[in-house]
Formats: sequence, C-alpha cells, structure tokens
Amino acid sequence: MYLKSFAKVNLCLKVINKRRDGYHTLKTIFERISLADKIILKPRKDSLIKISSDNRDVPRDESNFCFKAAKLLRDKFRPLSGLDIKIIKRIPVAAGLGGGSSNAAAVLLGLNRLWGLKLSKVKLAKFAGKVGSDVAFFIYGLSFALGSGKGERIKPLNILKKTKLWHILVVPKIHVSTPLIYKKYDHFSGLTHAPIGKKAMQKQLVRGLTKPPGNVKLITSVKPYLLFNSLEQVTIRLYPEVRRIKDAFSQLGLDRVLMSGSGPAVFAITSSFKNASRLAKILQKRERSWRVFVVKTV
Ligand code: C5P
Repeated sequence: MYLKSFAKVNLCLKVINKRRDGYHTLKTIFERISLADKIILKPRKDSLIKISSDNRDVPRDESNFCFKAAKLLRDKFRPLSGLDIKIIKRIPVAAGLGGGSSNAAAVLLGLNRLWGLKLSKVKLAKFAGKVGSDVAFFIYGLSFALGSGKGERIKPLNILKKTKLWHILVVPKIHVSTPLIYKKYDHFSGLTHAPIGKKAMQKQLVRGLTKPPGNVKLITSVKPYLLFNSLEQVTIRLYPEVRRIKDAFSQLGLDRVLMSGSGPAVFAITSSFKNASRLAKILQKRERSWRVFVVKTV
C-alpha cells in the first residue's frame, strides 16, 4: 500500500502554560503543505514491525513514530500481523515540519484500511495523540485547523476552505530537538510577548487568511505581526542560523515570515507561485547549505 504523507507549518503558535505532565498547553493554526514523503506498507509473514528508509537520519528503532503507531494498532487488533514500513523522505527531519508525525498518521490511516479495522477518524485521532502531539492533525486530512491542548485537539477551519497560500520554505542543515526547545522556553520564559491576546490574534489571523472577494491579493490582509511563534526567539538563541534566514527574507522585502513549530524551518507567505520561485532561486544562491522549497497549501 502506497501513502502520501504531507508536511505542515504552524501559522501561529502560542504557548499558554506548562502542564503538570511536563507538556505545554498551546494554541496553534496548522496548515498542510505540498511537501510530502511516501510511505509503503507491506504485510510480513511474521509479526515483526520493521522500518526502512532512503534517509539515514530516520530512526529505524522503536523511537520511530511509524513504529509506535503500527505497534499500537497491532497490539490491540492484530497481534499476529507484521509489517514492513518503508519511508521515502522528502520532508527534512527534525525541522518543525511535522514529518515524523505525518508519517505516523499515514501508517494509522493505512493500517485502518489494510487490516479492515473500520475505526472512525475520531478513534484514530485518539491513537494518534498517544504517538505524538502533532499526529492527530494529519488524521483529519484538513488544509487548515486550529490545534489546542498539547496540539492534539483539532478543530477544522472551514472558513479557510478556499484559501491557497504559496510559501518559500527554508531549512538550514540543523536538527532541532523539540523537548530541548520547550525546556529552554521554560528557562527563558518572558523572552517573547505576543503582540495581542491569543484569542484576538487567532481571530484576526483567520480573518486575514479568509479569501477576500474580488481580485484583492490575499497577502495584503495578513498582518505581519499576527504571524507569531512563542518558540521562535528560544530557537534563535540556540541556533542563530534561524535569525540569518529571517534576515535574508527581510532583505528580499518579505515580511510575512515565521519559524514553524520548534524550528529550524522558516517560511514566508508570498503573493504568487511566480514570485515565490523567483525569490527562492535568489535565496538558494545566497546560501548553498540551505534547503529551499516552494510549497503551497494542500
Ligand atoms: O508530542 P511530541 O512527541 O511531538 O513532543 C515532543 C516533546 O516536546 C515532548 O516530550 C515535550 O517535551 C515537548 N512538548 C511540549 N508541549 C507540547 C508538545 C510537545 O512540552 N504541547
């Protein structure tokens, strides 16, 4: 079975507080983007779960989110079934783009069909939440959604059904550990202040992203200060390269720019595919070690 596994960016990410279990409550807006991995599921004769990948950065052991997802369903519903999972990687690893989470969601959705489990999306999202905070978003197949709780509580943003954004996405050659960024966030708390209250911010951002009538360019209604990520300044402190990317965007005149998740990926909202492609080429020339992508909402 072949599955496509898309990446995400966070159009805003506001950390609210630290919970007793060590996780953080947050409010975020997820956007699914066209950058994608391919997942191949093949039944095995034994009951083992084996991971392989064309990318050396992908863990092959039990720490892999795909392994965790498959194990959850196998142990509960198909104790004798085994599985080969092949991950063909295009989404940079540990970049803030939800690659591992999306791969795990693809495995849950795929096994639901392969093993004829007939689990609802809500049920699958419950399993997803046990694997990782970002997995549930990918279960619902939505282009835009609000995330709350640890990020695993998903509400569709139907008002954005017609919204299609183009982005330039830049990923430096750094792997960022999400737990480390949250730990440092606790340490540096007070480093960043949201420009306005979280409810007003989300509301204004969603309104700005709602496709305006007529030919008005959507980008002009997205106010730059509404693109906010509580973790950005923390990651920049540890990895100044993220600041360099933001500066490079800024020098090209792009101001709707934000780090995704815990980073280091940084994206810009652009007005068109043409503009995005032109500027992406300039960025790639400026710094060969960056991976530069042009992506859109899917
Ligand atoms: O759930 P996920 O595996 O993506 O989270 C990785 C780590 O990031 C967690 O172990 C936790 O340290 C941190 N995290 C957090 N609050 C969240 C999501 C993640 O503190 N809402």
